[in-house]
Amino acid sequence: MSIHIAAKIGDISEIVLMPGDPMRAQYIANKYLQNAICYNQVRGMFGYTGSYKGKKVSIQGSGMGIPSMSIYANELIQEYKVKKIIRIGSCGSLQRNVQIRDIVLAQATSSDTNINSRIFPSMNFSPVASFNLLLKAYQKAQEMSIKVNVGNVFTTDLFYDEPCDSWKIWAKYGVLAIEMETAGLYTLAARHNIEALSILTVSDHLITNEACTSEEREKSFNRMLELALEMV
Ligand code: HPA
Repeated sequence: MSIHIAAKIGDISEIVLMPGDPMRAQYIANKYLQNAICYNQVRGMFGYTGSYKGKKVSIQGSGMGIPSMSIYANELIQEYKVKKIIRIGSCGSLQRNVQIRDIVLAQATSSDTNINSRIFPSMNFSPVASFNLLLKAYQKAQEMSIKVNVGNVFTTDLFYDEPCDSWKIWAKYGVLAIEMETAGLYTLAARHNIEALSILTVSDHLITNEACTSEEREKSFNRMLELALEMV
């Protein structure tokens, strides 16, 4: 086992879907996987492995923010030899044409995090999605008649920022949505030469201040989930 994941080598699939909320991992395992086993309960950050349409897949909670996501992604990659990670999470829309309940495929990330300025002092690294996973997600979405928005997202370290309208500069530069994990995930994927993609559902809208009801959140989350599972 690794420090934060109590699984044996071989318990985790080479492809892992990562919701932020560990209760979502449990929900997905119960609703969609056959023969699911729970391989991790450390800190309540549930991890499950089972099969979807005969293919082995794992679902691991990431927690919120780059630090938490990075701990789990690092251990999945380095200890359990995971090769593909698909984050399935929520985001806030920064554009009028990206509507509540829409799906966003994060082609690249901008960020206010300092993780990469430590690695590349006075230079910039652009964390990007795996083109292979991005293309596959886009094609599956078309097959399934699911509308997707593809583009840049903004990964922030602060859900409650000061000043509270700091997101507007990102909106001006065409960034589609705000979330809190993707820059960390894509950077780790680059460092370890694995594939990663974030698929996000718009749960709230920073321009219109709309937010999903919990029922809408569940329905739109299921659609995103089915898209991610079809990629396994
Ligand atoms: N900010 C940061 N992360 C988010 C948001 C937001 O408004 N909505 C969903 N994830």
